[in-house]
Amino acid sequence: MRLTAQEQKMLDGAEGEAIAAAMRILVQYGEILGAERLVETDNVCGATVFGPRHSRVLGDTDPARLFSRFALDSDEVLEVPAVKAHSCQLIGPRDPEHWDLQGMTAETSAEIERSQRYLADRGVNLLSTCTPYQVGNDPRFGEHCAWMESSAVVYINSVLGARTNTEGRESAAASMLTGRTPYVGLHRDEERLATHRVVVEAPMHSTYDWNVLGYHLGDVLDDAVPVLDGIDLTPDPVDLKQFGAAIASSGDVELYHIPRVTPEARTLEEALGGRTPRETLRVGPEDLVAAAARLNATAASDEIDFVMIGCPHASLSQIREVAELLDGRRIADSTNLWVFTPSALRTVAERNGYRAAIERAGGRILSDTCPAIAQFLPPGTRTFATDSAKQAHYLPAIMGVGGHFGSTSRCVEAAITGRWSG
Ligand code: F3S
Repeated sequence: MRLTAQEQKMLDGAEGEAIAAAMRILVQYGEILGAERLVETDNVCGATVFGPRHSRVLGDTDPARLFSRFALDSDEVLEVPAVKAHSCQLIGPRDPEHWDLQGMTAETSAEIERSQRYLADRGVNLLSTCTPYQVGNDPRFGEHCAWMESSAVVYINSVLGARTNTEGRESAAASMLTGRTPYVGLHRDEERLATHRVVVEAPMHSTYDWNVLGYHLGDVLDDAVPVLDGIDLTPDPVDLKQFGAAIASSGDVELYHIPRVTPEARTLEEALGGRTPRETLRVGPEDLVAAAARLNATAASDEIDFVMIGCPHASLSQIREVAELLDGRRIADSTNLWVFTPSALRTVAERNGYRAAIERAGGRILSDTCPAIAQFLPPGTRTFATDSAKQAHYLPAIMGVGGHFGSTSRCVEAAITGRWSG
């Protein structure tokens, strides 16, 4: 890999051992990917808050030791300076307000707090969400970024036209400290052109439809760059958030185009860059029915113990919708309804009265974390319901529970009756 003089200095240790360790990670990783050089980045999102899962391995809760070991691959405790790139922490292990609902001890909560403080002291913004683009980190068109989290990666690549690969914890941490990322994959123009044309013949009327379309396409495309043809209604940001999360969970899609909707595809021809698609696929209503059936295949019971809304983290409009659907009614005693959102949006939901409406019904709004990432559920949960294809895909595998997938209104109804209907 060709390095600039400045990058070579960083690699040689002129800026300290932590920066040198970060450069070693980027050079090794870039060379494995076939990158010929690095590119500057000033927007990095990573996940380097550590808790008991990591400290148990080391037998030490010192945040500096944990960061050195798990973010920079060093057994030495390195002196880590302030980050060079604007950086933020993605979703983490703990809701700072409701950690007790997660079944967490005060000691564990304090350990996570220390790890967060360590990052904040180095300039990492604690957005603590899988949707930084909803709370102030919305990269510019064409901006080179280094983000983790598949749903966020596909959103900023596709909807905003920013450029990132799906980074890992170590490469993101290294990019935070150096302001560099390998110039490879979706940073390059030619990798961003559509490879597959998807003719959507199923009507796309709702967020539910977008979830299911994403889940179906991830399954059949794996890691292609699709362009969707035949979309005549303009999807809103929530539709696109749910679609991207779904297509990146059943498959590895990191970028898609929709003519007249996403910024790199004013036309079908522009999305394809004048090339012939490798394949043209048709998606009809029957494909979506089959995908929805797969998402509902894990539940052995219609008794709902837990309703999860907010994967990826809920927008304000989604929280409002839940508050309005509850409409003064109460959630069944046997059921928990938890809505997950960034903490900044929980604050606004509180101001607007949505939080009070949800809590009066017996629900809760949680922030900074989610059941799949932090591996927690309300005690005794055997069957859950969710309006997110991604959560329906992952939670059964991660937590060994059965799940139902449906629209938000159907999920809220399940919370009120305690049963999945229809
Ligand atoms: Fe976010 Fe957790 Fe879903 S990280 S995308 S709420 S699985």
